[in-house]
Amino acid sequence: MPFTIFTIVGARPQFIKAAAVSRAIRTVYSNELTEFIVHTGQHYDSDMSDVFFEELEIPKPAFHLHVGSASHGAQTAAMMTALETLFQTEKPDLVLVYGDTNSTLAGALAASKILIPVVHVEAGLRSFNKSMPEEINRILTDHVSTMLFTPTQTGVDNLKKEGFSQKEGDQVDANHPLVVHSGDVMYDNALYFRKLAEEKAKDWFHTLDANNGFILATIHRNANTDDSKRLKSLLTGLSNASEFLNQPVFLPLHPRTLKMIQQFAETDAFFADLPSRNIRILPPASYLQMVLLEARCSLIMTDSGGVQKEAYFYRKPCLVLRPETEWVELVQSGAAILVDADEKKMQEAVAFFSSTDYPAPDGFYGDGKSAEFICGEILRMLKRQKDSANCGT
Ligand code: UD1
Ligand code: UDP
Repeated sequence: MPFTIFTIVGARPQFIKAAAVSRAIRTVYSNELTEFIVHTGQHYDSDMSDVFFEELEIPKPAFHLHVGSASHGAQTAAMMTALETLFQTEKPDLVLVYGDTNSTLAGALAASKILIPVVHVEAGLRSFNKSMPEEINRILTDHVSTMLFTPTQTGVDNLKKEGFSQKEGDQVDANHPLVVHSGDVMYDNALYFRKLAEEKAKDWFHTLDANNGFILATIHRNANTDDSKRLKSLLTGLSNASEFLNQPVFLPLHPRTLKMIQQFAETDAFFADLPSRNIRILPPASYLQMVLLEARCSLIMTDSGGVQKEAYFYRKPCLVLRPETEWVELVQSGAAILVDADEKKMQEAVAFFSSTDYPAPDGFYGDGKSAEFICGEILRMLKRQKDSANCGT
């Protein structure tokens, strides 16, 4: 009998990460691992959810919780309540969670408290800024997990400082968790989908009139969207960059940011007049569209974790619209510059990148086979657990 894995997803970056592992299960481990996808419903607009299942060929969710948007406590609690019932009924062999969203935390807490092993993919990342909801989610998830797959060596180092060990003893369980440096499944996807993006998104790309170059930007962090002064500085920085490079800014916009821009526009004309500042708001892009935008732009300005790394995959200079990042190797290598919401820092960084070659070496995020490696390690752990349970009986 194959082992059963329940994969918890809910937010856009999780669909994308899950696509890589799901593909590895289907193509390499289908005799030994059976995956059931559980969609919490955290993201629900079709361009924030369905499009990724279709484009990335992710199996349809076996279970959909339809939780929707709410405050952190209400949303996480609703997910946990539904997940606990589901896990108790279905009794999966393990629960797999990705990243640092409320869906991640809900899956990890609900499973660990009823003694189902939790596997955390993208473990060990830290911003050291607990005003970010994601930092709380990742710390708590790591500390209830049985296997922690880190995308970077920094992830391993962070976990060691928190008392985790990379050494494998006789036992692997929540009291004896195992940290494994796996590389980043998003890099697997970058390699796997690059050609397909050229084929499938090129007609869409031609409609953008982007022949003379463009800057790609994304903004969605609550710290950036909810404060009108800060959001205005960011958008001013985008507009200044556009003027400096004489290229438009394409801004595929998260619904949260669009809502805030529309709300602020009621009292401040700046927010209503972004096209005249050469900022073109687009609907959220599909993954393949996003790959083409990233591969063909001249510069990326973003507060997204995933987009920072994708900038590096496609060797595009990146301005990080945050005071810190979990992807420290990007900043240390010079591939990315932390500009926060500081208009002067943004201007300096744009000028710097426009006069320099791309500085970073390849290889920060593995060999493009992280998902397969993760599945192999999971299987090894499950077999060992089964063997030791059989010995005990
Ligand atoms: C969440 C994650 C964040 C991740 C991001 C990826 C948490 C705490 N945050 O942030 O780490 O980087 O997803 O995109 O889990 N909305 C819609 N339609 C949707 C989804 C959201 O309109 O399909 C709007 C709603 O107004 C909602 C707001 O966006 O209240 C925020 O959504 P939510 O899922 O709570 O957080 P994100 O900002 O998306
Ligand atoms: N992404 C996308 N369309 C967009 C913006 C982002 O497909 O309009 C992809 C992006 O290429 C990356 C992932 O979504 O693979 C990053 O997710 P997001 O920025 O929502 O969250 P974060 O990574 O910051 O948690």
